[in-house]
Amino acid sequence: MYSLTFLTRQCHISVAVSVNCVGRYVESAGIVPLVSDSKVSADGAAIEPPSYASIRVAVVTGGGHGIGRAICRRLAADGKRVVVADIDEAAGKRVAQDVKGIARAVNVADPDAIARLVADVEASEGPIDLFVSNAGVGFGDDAGLAASAAGAIGNVADRWQPCWQINVMAHVYAARALVPAMIERGGGWFVNVASAAGLLSQIGDAAYTATKHAAVAFAESLAITHGDDGIGVSVVCPQAVATRMIGIEDDSNTLEGGFGGNDVDGVLRPEAVADRIVAALEARRFLVLPHPQVEAYEQRRAGDRERWLEGMRRMRRRIENT
Ligand SMILES: NC(=O)c1ccc[n+]([C@@H]2O[C@H](COP(=O)([O-])OP(=O)(O)OC[C@H]3O[C@@H](n4cnc5c(N)ncnc54)[C@H](O)[C@@H]3O)[C@@H](O)[C@H]2O)c1
Repeated sequence: MYSLTFLTRQCHISVAVSVNCVGRYVESAGIVPLVSDSKVSADGAAIEPPSYASIRVAVVTGGGHGIGRAICRRLAADGKRVVVADIDEAAGKRVAQDVKGIARAVNVADPDAIARLVADVEASEGPIDLFVSNAGVGFGDDAGLAASAAGAIGNVADRWQPCWQINVMAHVYAARALVPAMIERGGGWFVNVASAAGLLSQIGDAAYTATKHAAVAFAESLAITHGDDGIGVSVVCPQAVATRMIGIEDDSNTLEGGFGGNDVDGVLRPEAVADRIVAALEARRFLVLPHPQVEAYEQRRAGDRERWLEGMRRMRRRIENT
């Protein structure tokens, strides 16, 4: 069942990968890896992911508003064919019209919907070179209880579940639908929009923090496992950005935001985040930190976890008292 060349490549990359481990991956992904030696250069070196200039077709989830909308606009300005995929059909259509792209109504929490999206777009527009998993949600903790966020939303009884599905599993579903075909044709890109909360912590939202950490971890796994196959991965970890997520309407001029005082390093416009993403694609970089301060925070957190937690508790007390 499992391709020998795939196992050979994995052993080549890391002797720590066992047959069992690969088998589990294949089972859970529901795909047969299609890595073939013909994609490896004669000296066994890694294949570079496609250049930004060569990207023709791009899908952006959550493209109807906020950061996703800004990404759609920037990609279209650079001559890409943009597919605006959003659960908010009307907003997706508006953006698609604006960028002369196409709109698709999609709930990214549904794996079949993502598989259909990929198949439909590839049939009508040609190969997807770039998939931007940007759609995301956060609901906040209930009454200061980190394990709660339990109130019903839609027909789901526990708000943790939409966070897992939309913030993490949607990224997995996109990779599952596209990685084998991208490898076959020589590569492709994934941009996964996580958050600084995925490297640090979002005070007052345990589900958001935990799922964004998982999103960063999944992006790393994708980059490690398929980086040599021509698959580029960028993970985007901003702090506050002026969107509806922090209570700022699309097209508002205000840069004052919510997060209950967590926006310590300023609120960026979505367009600035889109520009940073494109710069990372041009430089073929993994980690995109629109707020550069996050790099130092991450190092401090790793360097002394006890001190970091004490600082975060202090910040939480300050926020609660304001
Ligand atoms: N705004 C911030 O401060 C901030 C900071 C860090 C990370 N992020 C992340 O940026 C991403 C974009 O958020 P935003 O700030 O632009 O928020 P936003 O609310 O303006 O946009 C989110 C978009 O996702 C769409 N969406 C939500 N659920 C969906 C689903 N199930 N299927 C398809 N589409 C769905 C919405 O309709 C909307 O168009 C999210 O992943 C968010 O977590 C935002």
